[in-house]
Amino acid sequence: MILSASILSADFTDLRGQVQQAEQAGVDWIHVDVMDGHFVPNITMGAFMVETCKRITSLPLDVHLMIEKPERHIQAFINAGADYISVHIEGNPNIHRTLQALRSAGVHPGIVLNPGTPAGHVSAVLPFVDYVLAMTVNPGFSGQSFIPQVAGKVSEIRKMLDQMNPQASIEVDGGITAENLPVIQTAGANIIVAATAIFRHPEGIAAGVRNLRSAGLN
Ligand code: DX5
Ligand code: ZN
Repeated sequence: MILSASILSADFTDLRGQVQQAEQAGVDWIHVDVMDGHFVPNITMGAFMVETCKRITSLPLDVHLMIEKPERHIQAFINAGADYISVHIEGNPNIHRTLQALRSAGVHPGIVLNPGTPAGHVSAVLPFVDYVLAMTVNPGFSGQSFIPQVAGKVSEIRKMLDQMNPQASIEVDGGITAENLPVIQTAGANIIVAATAIFRHPEGIAAGVRNLRSAGLN
């Protein structure tokens, strides 16, 4: 299990301290949620925050673009030091070009699908990605409830990947807790994003990470 800590729920008055605590607690990646107020209702952070995180940590930066026309902005995120960049299938007519541009730049490309998007919608791009991000909430905010029906879709995607791109991973994002983690791992997810469960754990960041690690299957 790769654990990717989403800074969306971090205390930004002490971002360095929060990211370093997560790193010391043993998270594998830092997840940066980029929202433009159009693709999703919320506005969060841009390439500047990726560049800031790069100066705080040596962990891989996992950048999730929830923006319209991501092809206009990927170069800024590549320049800022993103290691993984995922773009949504929804509303992106030229997605192959974007994924290939990411690959050519040496960044790991990922495709994202919302809970309401069927697994079949990403089948044509599976050979071009290193991971599929299956949203387990409708994107826009941290702290929402996990949608359990996505587990079935994760299994479907895993089967398609086994045929077309067996090396590729499945990431899940949204409402992940120690309680639902084993179910979604069993379905085939191996990269787990968590914001609230890590940065808002009542006993602190280290306890949040410990809790997820001990609930996880591996
Ligand atoms: C949701 C974001 C998620 C979010 C997860 O739109 O993509 O990465 O930060 O937050 P939690 O873990 O609190 O659901
Ligand atoms: Zn995310």
